[in-house]
Amino acid sequence: MAASGGSGRGAVGPGAGPAPIEFDEELARHLERMYLTPDVVAQRARVLQAMELRSGDRVLDIGVGPGLLAHDLACCVGPDGRVAGVDTSPAMLAMTRDRCAEQDWTDFQLADATELPFEDEGFDAVVSTQVYEYVGDVDAALAEAWRVLRPAGRLFVLDTDWDSIVWRNRDRARMERVLRAWDEHLAHPHLPAVLGGRLREAGFQIERREIIPMFNPEFHPHSYSAGILGAIHAFVPGRGGVTQEEADAWALDLRELGEAGDYFFSLNRYLFVAVRPA
Ligand SMILES: C[S@@+](CC[C@H](N)C(=O)[O-])C[C@H]1O[C@@H](n2cnc3c(N)ncnc32)[C@H](O)[C@@H]1O
Repeated sequence: MAASGGSGRGAVGPGAGPAPIEFDEELARHLERMYLTPDVVAQRARVLQAMELRSGDRVLDIGVGPGLLAHDLACCVGPDGRVAGVDTSPAMLAMTRDRCAEQDWTDFQLADATELPFEDEGFDAVVSTQVYEYVGDVDAALAEAWRVLRPAGRLFVLDTDWDSIVWRNRDRARMERVLRAWDEHLAHPHLPAVLGGRLREAGFQIERREIIPMFNPEFHPHSYSAGILGAIHAFVPGRGGVTQEEADAWALDLRELGEAGDYFFSLNRYLFVAVRPA
């Protein structure tokens, strides 16, 4: 069965530690498709709702990826506002710049979350979804977010905790091996459980936390879990002792369960809303 994710090999990671996945053009296109599924569209809507943006707000999106959130942010703040974004991937930045080409109150730069090219206190809100889990030095990234936020400005962070996964399968030991190998695509596969403490240490007050499940109790090709299945299938061969044959058998098992109507997938993401005290 053909894999549909990125190559995920030979990458040089951003931040203080190596992140062994490469956000190249192939993965950028795969992520864009995945982020247009109803699951991720709903997640973006939850984040936007939590941000309560107003016309004229100045917002920074750290790790813009395909730019879907950045585009929505720009619609919310309008031409009197500003949306800036950074990413370490030229392929992702190109996609974001295309998407926001007509929103000239946006600007996007190649930069790392741990070294933001912005002045102190220049933003009303900072958002980073599915990014800090890739950043080796999360504390440095949070310190940077704090620095560029104005006093009383808010930081919105969303990350996945891979400990929360429930994925029906017919070989638990194989599923365990595949998921351990997949953990290697992140610097922090379990960041949400410790993020509260890290935010407080960085000087933030936590305003609230929300859970955002990716829940696919049936298999659908245009769903989050179908997308992540392809990405995992492409990434794990040769890692953690997982062979290509084993990865193929793992993916086939899930697709067969889907066809038989016996599919079940659930994974939790967590949104943290934190304030830089006034
Ligand atoms: C899973 S994607 C999420 C994209 C986007 N935030 C979203 O939710 O749609 C992760 C993105 O973070 C970027 N990234 C990873 N490490 C980064 C770092 N240290 N600084 C800035 N961007 C980073 C990647 O290049 C990729 O575009």
